[in-house]
Amino acid sequence: MPILGWRGNAIRFFRNPIRYMSDLRSTYGPVACLVQGQSPTVFFRPTGLESRTYFAFGAENNRRVLTSIDDFQTGRPRGPKTRAFDLLSNNILTMNGAKHDEQRRLLMPAFTREHLHRYHNDIVENTEEHLRGWRPGERRDMLSEMTRLTLAISTKTLFGLNPTTDSRSLALKIRQMVDVLFSPLAMVPLDLPGTPYRKLRLNLEETVTSLQTEIARKRAQGSPGEDFLSMMIAAHDEDAGRLSDDELVSQSFVVFFAGHDTTSCALTWTLFLLATHPHVASELLDELDEHLAGAPPTYEQTYSLSVLDRVIKESLRVLSPGVIFPRIAVRDTTLGEFEIAAGSEVLFSPYITHHDPTIYPEPNCFRPERWLSLKPSAYEYLPFGAGPRKCIGAGLGTIQLKVIVALILQHYRLGLVDGTKIDPHVNVVMSPKRGLPMTIHTQDRKFSLSRAKIGGYIRQMVTL
Ligand code: HEM
Repeated sequence: MPILGWRGNAIRFFRNPIRYMSDLRSTYGPVACLVQGQSPTVFFRPTGLESRTYFAFGAENNRRVLTSIDDFQTGRPRGPKTRAFDLLSNNILTMNGAKHDEQRRLLMPAFTREHLHRYHNDIVENTEEHLRGWRPGERRDMLSEMTRLTLAISTKTLFGLNPTTDSRSLALKIRQMVDVLFSPLAMVPLDLPGTPYRKLRLNLEETVTSLQTEIARKRAQGSPGEDFLSMMIAAHDEDAGRLSDDELVSQSFVVFFAGHDTTSCALTWTLFLLATHPHVASELLDELDEHLAGAPPTYEQTYSLSVLDRVIKESLRVLSPGVIFPRIAVRDTTLGEFEIAAGSEVLFSPYITHHDPTIYPEPNCFRPERWLSLKPSAYEYLPFGAGPRKCIGAGLGTIQLKVIVALILQHYRLGLVDGTKIDPHVNVVMSPKRGLPMTIHTQDRKFSLSRAKIGGYIRQMVTL
């Protein structure tokens, strides 16, 4: 897009990354480069003079970018030059090479089937507790509901804290900090009372202190809990060469951060898709009634309920919360027909891949039954990424989606509100910009009443 220059491109990109990338893909093909200007960088600021920003589309480019780890790596985000930011941003998402492999190996034991089984109980308990607060006739914003619910679940499964009494101390602090971290204003280094930068700097320090305090409290307690952080501490204390104290802080922060908004956005979009597709909601409830008779799905059933499985898979395809992820070229290399300079930024998009009509005919149609015969490769379907950095919480995230959607549907019918305008807001993940207001009804199976007149860009993204 030479005419716009990099600033024009950046503005269009930030206004609606999905529209922007779809246009790029259809105009320029599988690789597009932002040209003109010295440093047309969208997210990071690489140092090489010739470095540029590239968009890599399609399964083949996904494979290339995700598996060629000597060419493409993750970078550190920009932020305040403080010890707290340094510490928190040095985590599994930003590490590369042998260090990344090592840290991943150390974190993986917390996500085995045995542990997922335990987390499953926490997920059911917290969801039931949360849903008890809903009253038929109420209108609630499902994005904030799902955010509060997943916050409570993460507080319990990751930190072993009681979501109702302890969440203020840690999870909420991290959440507030992450909200500020992605505000562009916080990057203006004006360290004065009341500025976003000062707020971020203080939030970062408080997050580090809270995590250190929690680690010390758990150690003093003696008996390790069954939550993620306790497991990491126990592993560390057995063999101090494994995760350092700093790594305990940064990795527990990043696991919380990476798992939280992704799951709540995926849930919100799934509720939207069920409300707009009454026949799918009805078929799903038939399956739940037949196999669960009103009980929550057991851990095993989260794997065996086939309609539920297809609904979640299709929702993660059509409205994939992970829209776009960055890599940096760490040496001069090639991408498709382009030669690209070291320092260039390369962006790949699960969302755009999931809307490729050559892989998914009529890609904007929410059609869970397509999964009866569809077998895409790891680089054609990648809501959890792919390759050596594939999401380590994919199993935990999927169980949360399945349990929460099943419990909501068993108890309530959620109706959309006439006139709601839904546009995507893409930050790290994609959420509905103004939330998703829905009216709560007791489950009466009148699914066709859940639909409503919906406006906004969502109509270009999903066939309604
Ligand atoms: C529906 C929910 C989720 C979605 C859609 C999702 C999506 C993703 C994606 C696309 C990546 C790859 C990013 C890249 O290649 O740059 C990723 C990585 C990651 N995810 Fe998730 N995620 C979800 C849930 C979770 C949960 C529940 C956790 C942990 C509790 C988690 C922890 C992580 C971590 C630590 C990484 C980094 C892995 C690495 O770099 O080796 N995610 N996730």
